Amino acid sequence: MSTIDTSNRKPQPHKSPIYGNLVPAYQALWPAVARKRIVAAVRSLNIPTGSEVLEVGVGTGLSLDSYPTDVSVTGVDLSESMLAEAEHLIEERGWEHIRVMPMNAEELTFDDNSFDFVTSFHTISVVSRPDAMMREIVRVCKPGARILMINHFRSENPIIARVVDSAGNITKRLGWRTDLDLDEVLSDLPLRLDQRSKPNPLSLFTVMKATCKPA
Ligand SMILES: C[S@@+](CC[C@H](N)C(=O)[O-])C[C@H]1O[C@@H](n2cnc3c(N)ncnc32)[C@H](O)[C@@H]1O
Repeated sequence: MSTIDTSNRKPQPHKSPIYGNLVPAYQALWPAVARKRIVAAVRSLNIPTGSEVLEVGVGTGLSLDSYPTDVSVTGVDLSESMLAEAEHLIEERGWEHIRVMPMNAEELTFDDNSFDFVTSFHTISVVSRPDAMMREIVRVCKPGARILMINHFRSENPIIARVVDSAGNITKRLGWRTDLDLDEVLSDLPLRLDQRSKPNPLSLFTVMKATCKPA
């Protein structure tokens, strides 16, 4: 798998300061909330030996120990301070099958049809252009590749959707939108939706699995 030269394309910092400046607070609070559902979802993919895996918005590397060690994992993120934590973890654990690099999810610099699996957790709500991120994920997926995403999407239940909408102004200040519609995000893309479920009945999050460019 080759990458396009990125040496003169410096990624822009994310608009919200939270991911650049609040890494210690984020590290203290977020893993307890998010890790369990990420580990369960990644393991459910049964990723075969030798697969090329891309994780978009890898952050501090919370998910990295859920991948098998006999696959090749590339993690990308816009925040260099989040990536520094992930790099530290990779070095500490001696993970030679994992690399991370700065990259904008909306403008991936990988060739078309590069990956067997693309994962992304809690990221599509914070990028500026979710539709562009999704198009890029599909572009870099090989035909038949699997996509796994965990995210908060607008509830299909109108009452829950209205309650969550009312919190939207607060979460928007953190750079996190609550009104993303999964059907809209996936519309007009060559994808087959395989799974759309909650990690548990009360969860605000959705686990989405899809097959890319199905035969
Ligand atoms: C809520 S955090 C989730 C991190 C990790 N996936 C997790 O679940 O712990 C969102 C991540 O998206 C990254 N991010 C925001 N905009 C991005 C973009 N345009 N391209 C790549 N990463 C981006 C942030 O830097 C941050 O690490």
